[in-house]
Amino acid sequence: MVFLKNCWYCAGWSSELTDKPIGYKMLDQDVVLYRKKDGSVVAVSGICRHRFAPLADGKVVDDKIECPYHGLQYDETGSCVYNPHGSGKIPPRADLESYSVIEKSGAIWIWMGDSEKADASKIPDFDFVSDRENWSGLTGYLRIEANYQLVIDNLMDLTHAAYLHPTTVGQSPDAWIGDMKMEHKCFVEGDILTSDYVFFNSPPTPLLELFTDIEVGDIYTPMILYPASTMILDMYMTTPKGAKSEGVAMPSCHFLVPESDNSCHYFYAISRNVKLDDDEITAAMGALVGRAFIDEDALIIKKCQEAMGNADFFDLKPVILETDIAAVRARRMLQKMINAEKS
Ligand code: FES
Ligand SMILES: [Fe+2]
Repeated sequence: MVFLKNCWYCAGWSSELTDKPIGYKMLDQDVVLYRKKDGSVVAVSGICRHRFAPLADGKVVDDKIECPYHGLQYDETGSCVYNPHGSGKIPPRADLESYSVIEKSGAIWIWMGDSEKADASKIPDFDFVSDRENWSGLTGYLRIEANYQLVIDNLMDLTHAAYLHPTTVGQSPDAWIGDMKMEHKCFVEGDILTSDYVFFNSPPTPLLELFTDIEVGDIYTPMILYPASTMILDMYMTTPKGAKSEGVAMPSCHFLVPESDNSCHYFYAISRNVKLDDDEITAAMGALVGRAFIDEDALIIKKCQEAMGNADFFDLKPVILETDIAAVRARRMLQKMINAEKS
C-alpha cells in the first residue's frame, strides 16, 4: 500500500520519550526515536545498516544511538560516526535516513516525506492535552490490527456509538428520549474535513455523566480530520440551545499512524474543562475510554479487517449509507492526495 508521506504523523507522547530509544514501524518503515541531553528529539531509520539489527534495542551514548549488535554509532543526522572495530574506518553507505521532528502540545510529530516541505503550521492545535491549568485528562496508546482507513471510517461516522458503545462513550438507541434528534453536516475547508454530529435534547453519555450535571442538553461532536490521519473531536455539551462557553467540553485526540497495510498505531488523548482536580474522574474516564477503544472499537475493526482480507475496500462493493458521507469523502480525499504525491 502507498501511504501519504508529506504530512505530519504523531510519533508518541512527549512525556514518554527519554534517552531510552523507542521504535515504531510507520508507513512500513522502521523508525527509532530518542531524546538528546538538550531535550531535543531525534528520529532516524530504525534498522542498522550493517546486519540489520533493530536500533530500538540499542542505547544512547553521548547523544548517539549505538547498535546493540556490533556497536556502530549513528548521530541525529543518521550519519555513522563511530566504528569500534578494526581501524575504526567509517564504512561508506552506512548512513541512516533522518526525519524532521517537532514537539507540540505534548506530542511528538514526524514528517516522513520531503523534509523541505515540512511545515510546522500544518500541525493542528490541541492545547487541551498540555495546558493543565485549564484542562484535566489523559493520554494513551493502542495498536490496532487493521488498516488505518478503517479507523478513520469509524471515527468519521459516530452513528456507531449507539450500537457499539451504549455503556461507555455512546448511548443505546433505547435511551433516546422525547424530542431528541440528531443532525449531521460534513464540510471541507482547504484539505481539512469535518464530520459534525449534533445530538439535541440528549441525556449525557456515560462518559460525560462522570463530570456534568446537565441531565438533558445538546451534545456537539465535530470530528475534524487533518490528512492523512490526524483527528480531533472538539466535543462539548450544553444545556438545550445553550452557549458553548457555558457548557462542559470534552475534546479528544485520535492520532492514527499507518504501521503496515493491515495495522496502525492509535495515540489518543481526552480532556475535560471542569472538576480539574478530581483524579477519580480522570481514572474513571481512562477506564471507560479504554473499554470503548480497546474492547469495542479495536476489536470490531480488527474483525472487519479479517473479513475483508487484503481486498481493496471499494472493490468489495460495500453498501454505502447516508451517514457514510464523511468517511467516503475522507477516503476519496486521501486517495487524491496520495495520487498527487506519486505523480
Ligand atoms: S548490526 Fe549494527 S553494528 Fe552490526
Ligand atoms: Fe467508537
